[in-house]
Amino acid sequence: MSNVVFITGATSGFGRAAARRFAAAGWSLVLTGRRVERLQALQDELAGRVPVHVAALDVRDGSAVTRVVAELPEGFRRVRTLVNNAGLALAPEPAQTVELSDWLTMIDTNVIGLVSVTHALLPTLIETGEGASIVNLGSIAGQWPYPGSHVYGATKAFVKQFSYNLRCDLLGTGVRVTDLAPGIAETEFTLVRTKGDQAASDRLYRGTTPLSAEDVAEQIYYVATLPAHMNVNRMEVMPVRQAWSPFAIDRDA
Ligand SMILES: NC(=O)c1ccc[n+]([C@@H]2O[C@H](COP(=O)([O-])OP(=O)(O)OC[C@H]3O[C@@H](n4cnc5c(N)ncnc54)[C@H](OP(=O)(O)O)[C@@H]3O)[C@@H](O)[C@H]2O)c1
Repeated sequence: MSNVVFITGATSGFGRAAARRFAAAGWSLVLTGRRVERLQALQDELAGRVPVHVAALDVRDGSAVTRVVAELPEGFRRVRTLVNNAGLALAPEPAQTVELSDWLTMIDTNVIGLVSVTHALLPTLIETGEGASIVNLGSIAGQWPYPGSHVYGATKAFVKQFSYNLRCDLLGTGVRVTDLAPGIAETEFTLVRTKGDQAASDRLYRGTTPLSAEDVAEQIYYVATLPAHMNVNRMEVMPVRQAWSPFAIDRDA
C-alpha cells in the first residue's frame, strides 16, 4: 500500500499541520498552495524525514490542477489520501452588504477548486483502491446557519452533499470519503475572512479555547488511517466552549 498524501492549502492552518502529522507517521507528501515560499519552507522542514514534492497551485485554475496531477513525479503518483483542505471564507457582514466578487471567490475556491482536484485525482485513488481516502474540509457552517455565513456556509453544505454523493458512486472501489466539519479553530482563517484585520481575528479567539490546527490535523490523520473497511461519513467537532445560539426573533421596538 502506498502512503502518499496530497494536500491542498498546505501553506497554513489545517493543511500545514496535516503535512506535519502525516510526515510524523512516515507518509510521502504532495504539498500544494499558492504561497510558494511557504511551500519551500515546509519542504525544507520535512524533507529530511520523508519524501516531499511541492507544487504551486491555485485550485481555481482548472488547467493547473490537471497539470500538477499529471506531472506528479515517480514515487508520488499513487496517491492514497487526498486532503481537500484549500478554502476560505470572506465577507462576514450581512449578505445584502457584501461584494458579489467575494461570493464568487468562495464558490470558485471551496466548490469549483475542490471538485476539480477531486476529479483529477479520482482515477489514481480508485487505482489505489482499498484504504484510499478523500478527506474534504467542510465546516459546521455547512450544517448550521448563522449571520454572515451566507455563501461560505452554502459552499460547505455543498462539500457535505458532494461527499455523501461521492460515497454512493465510489461504492465497490474501496475509496472512502469524509466530510470533516470543524467548529471554531484558530488559524489564519479569520485574518483572511476579515481581509487582514489582525485585531478582529484576535478578538474572535480571545478568552476561549478554539480548536487548534493540530487538533484538526489529528482528525484528518485519524479518518485516513482507520481500518480500510471503515468510512467516517461526516465528523463534526467543536471545541467544548462552543455551542449553538437560540433562534433570533425580529420584534417591534
Ligand atoms: N479555521 C476554522 O475555523 C475552520 C472551521 C471549519 C472549516 N474550515 C475550513 O478548513 C480549511 C482550511 O482552513 P484554515 O482554518 O486552515 O485556514 P487558513 O489558515 O487560512 O488556510 C487556508 C489554506 O487554503 C489555501 N488556499 C486558499 N485559497 C486557495 C486557492 N485558491 N488555491 C489553493 N489554496 C488556497 C491557503 O493557501 P495559499 O493562500 O498559500 O494558497 C491556505 O493554505 C478551509 O477549507 C476552511 O474553510 C476552517
